[in-house]
Amino acid sequence: MRKPKILIVDDEIEQRQLLAGFLKKRDFDVETAGSLAEAEKVFSQRGFDVAVLDLRLPDGDGIELLKKLRAIDPDIGAVMLTAYATISSAADGIKAGAEEFLEKPVELAQLEAILHRLVERRQIVRENRALTELVRGSFPDDVVAESPQMKEVLNIVARVAPTDAPVLITGESGTGKELVANLLHRDSLRSKKPFFAINCAAIPETLLESELFGYEPGAFTGAKKRQLGKFELASGGSAFLDEIGDFPPTLQAKILRFLEDGTFYRLGGSEPINPDVRIISATNRDIDEMVKSKEFREDLFYRLNLIRIHIPPLRERPQDLLKLAEIYVEKFAKKHNKAVKGFSDDARDRLLRYEWRGNVRELRNTIERAVILTRTEYISGKSMPQQVGGEEIVEIFTEKSLRTLAEVEREHIENVLRYCNFNQSEAAKILGIHRNTLRNKIKEYEIEC
Ligand SMILES: Nc1ncnc2c1ncn2[C@@H]1O[C@H](COP(=O)(O)OP(=O)(O)OP(=O)(O)O)[C@@H](O)[C@H]1O
Ligand SMILES: [Mg+2]
Repeated sequence: MRKPKILIVDDEIEQRQLLAGFLKKRDFDVETAGSLAEAEKVFSQRGFDVAVLDLRLPDGDGIELLKKLRAIDPDIGAVMLTAYATISSAADGIKAGAEEFLEKPVELAQLEAILHRLVERRQIVRENRALTELVRGSFPDDVVAESPQMKEVLNIVARVAPTDAPVLITGESGTGKELVANLLHRDSLRSKKPFFAINCAAIPETLLESELFGYEPGAFTGAKKRQLGKFELASGGSAFLDEIGDFPPTLQAKILRFLEDGTFYRLGGSEPINPDVRIISATNRDIDEMVKSKEFREDLFYRLNLIRIHIPPLRERPQDLLKLAEIYVEKFAKKHNKAVKGFSDDARDRLLRYEWRGNVRELRNTIERAVILTRTEYISGKSMPQQVGGEEIVEIFTEKSLRTLAEVEREHIENVLRYCNFNQSEAAKILGIHRNTLRNKIKEYEIEC
C-alpha cells in the first residue's frame, strides 16, 4: 500500500513542523507550505489525498486556497484549521467544501482519525469514477471454442489470467483479440478493479500520451485541471493496449521505461507515479516482422510478449465457424422476427469455403444479412450474400447506410478513380460523363487525386 499523501498549509513554522512530524511518524507522506502561493505551486506538481489548511494565510485564506486546489483535483479531501473558530468562518469553510473543521490547538489523535477517514473516502470516490468510465457490457457473452485451437487459447487464458504477466495477443482482424483480453481480466484477481482499453491506432500521438500518462495543470495550453492517465486510473486492474503495432516510436520509448521500472511522470509533473497495472496488448499486424524490420522496438516487444496468445484465423477453425454461424442464426432470427432455423448443406459448404478475411466480425454481419434476406426456413447457398458465393444483391438499409445521392455519387466517383489509378479520362469514360463534368465533380466533392 502506498502512503497517504497529505499537504499541510500553515504560515506558522512550529505548527507545520509539529503536524508534519507527528503524521510522518504515523506513516503519512507529508509536504508542507507556508503560504497560498507556495501551496498552489506544490500542488500543481504532485497529487495529494488530503490538504490540511490554515484558515488564515499571509497571502489569502484557506477557503480561497481550497477552491483553487479543487479546480485542479475535485476529489481532494480538506481539513480546515483555525485558531478562532467563529460560526461564520466555519460555515464558510464548509461551504467551500472542507469536510472537517478543527480548532487549534489541534488534537493530534483526532486529526489522524479524520485523515484516515478522508483518505478512504477519496479512494472510494475515485474507484467509483474509474468504474463508471468503463465501457459497460464489455464482458463477453458466451465464448465459442469448439475447435482444438480455440480450446488451447482458453487453456492458456486460464493459466495466465491469475498472474500479472504481460500478455500479447495476435491474430487477424475480427478473430477475437479484444474478447480474449476481456477474459484475461475477468478471470484475474483484478477483476473487481478497472479494465481500460486504449485503441492506440485511433488516437493522435499527442493525445495518446496524455491519455495514458495523464497531465498536470499547465502542462500544455488548455490543461487546466490535473488529469489522471489511464495507467493511473487502471491501478489495481488491467490496461489493454489495443493495436500496439501502431504505437508511435516516441511513445514506445516512454512506455518501455514505465514497464522497466514501474514508474512514470504525468505530463508536466515531477512526482513519480507507480500504479499497479497489468498490461495486455494486441495487434493484428505482423509484429514479429515489424521487430525484424526495426519498425517496432525489440526491447519493448520482449517486455510485452512475455506470454503470447495467437488466435488463428476463422477459416482454419471450421468447428468454431459452424457453431458461431448457428448461434448467429438463432440470435438474428429472434432479433428480426424471422422463422429461420439454419442452413442448407450448400450454404454450409459455402461458409466453409469462404476466406473470412474479417473473421468472426464478418461472419456475424454476413449471417445477419442472410437471415434478413432469406425466404426459406433454411438459408440456401443462393440466398447468401454475394461475396460468400451467393446471389444476394439487395442493399440492406440501416440507419448508417441511408445517405444522400450526392454522398453515393461522391463515393462511386472516388472508387472508379481509384480503380483507374486516378486517370481522369478513363474514369470519365467508365462513368459515362464528359471529362470536364468529372473535373467539376472532383472539385465540388473535394476528392483528392
Ligand atoms: N470465439 C468467439 N466466440 C464468440 N464470439 C466471438 C469469438 N471470437 C470473436 N467473437 C466476436 O467477434 C467480434 C470481433 O471480436 P474482437 O473485437 O474481439 O476482434 P479483434 O481481434 O479485436 O478485431 P480487430 O483486430 O478488428 O480489433 C466480437 O463481437 C466478438 O465478441
Ligand atoms: Mg480489436
